Formats: sequence, structure tokens, C-alpha cells
Amino acid sequence: MLEVRNLSVTFDNFVAVKNVSFKVNKGEIFGLLGANGAGKTTTIRVMCGLLIPSSGEVQIAETVFGKNNNTAELIKSRIGYMSQKFTLYDDLTIEENWKFLASLRKIKKDFYKKRCDYLNQWLSLGDKKNKLVSSLASGLKQQVALAAALFHDPDIIFLDEPTAGVSPFARMQFWNLIKTLAEQGKTIIVTTHYMDEAENCARLALMRAGEIIALDSPEHLKVQTFPNGICVVLEEKMPSSLKDEIQKYKNEKLLNAWPYGLYYHIVFHDQKIGNDLKSRYPCLQLHTDVADSNLISATLSATLEDVFIELVEGKAR
Ligand SMILES: Nc1ncnc2c1ncn2[C@@H]1O[C@H](COP(=O)(O)OP(=O)(O)OP(=O)(O)O)[C@@H](O)[C@H]1O
Ligand SMILES: [Mg+2]
Repeated sequence: MLEVRNLSVTFDNFVAVKNVSFKVNKGEIFGLLGANGAGKTTTIRVMCGLLIPSSGEVQIAETVFGKNNNTAELIKSRIGYMSQKFTLYDDLTIEENWKFLASLRKIKKDFYKKRCDYLNQWLSLGDKKNKLVSSLASGLKQQVALAAALFHDPDIIFLDEPTAGVSPFARMQFWNLIKTLAEQGKTIIVTTHYMDEAENCARLALMRAGEIIALDSPEHLKVQTFPNGICVVLEEKMPSSLKDEIQKYKNEKLLNAWPYGLYYHIVFHDQKIGNDLKSRYPCLQLHTDVADSNLISATLSATLEDVFIELVEGKAR
């Protein structure tokens, strides 16, 4: 459905996106993860045809566009974009916002009415469509902004941090909407800083400093990032000598360690050191061993948060 080939974006001398390539399938929920400034929004802006890349190209269905081929206009009717910054007018009602947007997109009256009824029902808005956007809870505002991006019934939908600043319950509701869109065959490209949300993606591209450093399903990312598993230790059971040794090896990049709730998660880049520490400190256990002993395995197994910490911060590159 969508393919990005060798995409690079340079602002003056700063390289924001470096030689990025990936494909997204029809009906897939594809996530872009990365720390602030990793290049997610820049990549999305190129895919939407809003920014001409320094090199590389994007293919959406049969249309190819890039540095030397500015045909992005052709795909505008097929894509919907919910940008990172809130884009609705606070001092207009929901319906006035939608009407204004429809007029900008030159959407025909009949089609507008159909979509308005459909989206109104989809979001169970009822009479709320006459309310000022400024009066809405943040979760509903984001749903209305999503609907605005869907007015022309696009095939591919870009959602840039759609749930930032939204309550956990409203985030869950928003993700239910995203899943129904994918079930209808819409292709979704989404960025998020929430790892629990990232679990809903079929595949994830992890970006660091403009590059994709990993790309796979959430489950494969966990297994591939930690082929030898993760060690866990209850922080209160950690002798200070173990803390000192861990810090020393962490500085030498021979392991990575981070606090995780009441625990510390530790991944050994050097297995010899791992075996040595495990033999000397019985409180240090491989998470699978701990899970076997009937402790709460969910908090102890590797999570996407662990993958993110390890790949983005853990390795010397
Ligand atoms: N128009 C621009 N001119 C100069 N630098 C820019 C421009 N747009 C983005 N950048 C820089 O490019 C880098 C990538 O920015 P981008 O907005 O793509 O990151 P991001 O991954 O979306 O981050 P966040 O999670 O904070 O939204 C950043 O260092 C940013 O400051
Ligand atoms: Mg961004």
C-alpha cells in the first residue's frame, strides 16, 4: 500500500531523517516509535506530501513522489492526516469545524451529509456536534480531530501522537476507533510515546536520530532484542556491592540496567559477566526462572518499554 525508499531529509546541515526505508501493508496498523526529535513527524510529513525530501521517494499505491518528482498532490484525496498539534478551531462547534474543513477540501454537499451522519454515529456524538470544541474533554477533542481527518474517507490515515495528553480510558477508546478503521481495511500509520499503545501495532519501526534501528512485530522485537532474556531483581533485595558492579559495567556498556517498578531489569551484553554476577548474587534471576516460581510474570517479562530503553539508550553505536 505504501513504500518509503531511502528517504533522507536535511534541514540546513542537520540530517533529521537518514536513509529510511519501509513498507506498510493495506489494513495494517504500523507504528513509528522514537524519542523526541527522532524524525517521526518529519517522515510522516514527507509521506503526506507536505515536505519534499532531500533524497529518496515514497510510493502510495501506484503514485511515486520524492525529491525530483513532486506528484504528491495526486495522493491527497487518498490520505488523512491528524497532525501532532491540535488543529481544530476552539471557538467553533464540532459541526462548524467539520463544515469548514469540508469546504476547504471541496467536499460535495451530499457526500458531506453522508459522512457527517456516519461519523456522528461512529463517535456517538448525538447533540454534542453543536458544542464548542473548547468545551470538550481532551479525549473527545481528539476523536473529533480524527473524524476531521476521515471526512473524505481516505485509505491511508496518518496519526501523529493522537493520544498525547489524553486520559487512559479515553486512550483506550481512541484505540478501539483505530482498530475498527483497520478492520475496515484502512491503513494506519501512527506515532506514540505510550508503549502500551504500541502493543496494538502489527509492526513497529523504532527510530533513533533519524534512522530506523529496528522494525518488526512487538513480539519479535522483544525476542530479538533479548535473545538471552532479561534479568530481574527486586530493588530492595539488591546489595550495594551488586549496585556498584552493575553501575561499573553499565558505564563500560557491558550491560544495561534500568529501574522497572519495584524491580531492576538488567540485560547483559557480555554473557560471561552475566553468568558471573548471577552465580555470586542469587537475588539476580532470569525473568523466565522467576516466572516459573509463580511470581507475577507480567511485571517481570520483557516489555516494549524494555526494548525501547535497550535499543534507544543501551547500546554503544
Ligand atoms: N522545519 C525544520 N527545520 C529545522 N529542523 C527541523 C524542522 N523540523 C524538524 N526539525 C528537526 O528535526 C528533528 C526531527 O524532528 P521531528 O519533529 O521529526 O521529530 P519527532 O520524532 O517527531 O519528535 P517528537 O517525538 O518530539 O514529536 C528534530 O531535531 C527537529 O528539531
Ligand atoms: Mg513528532
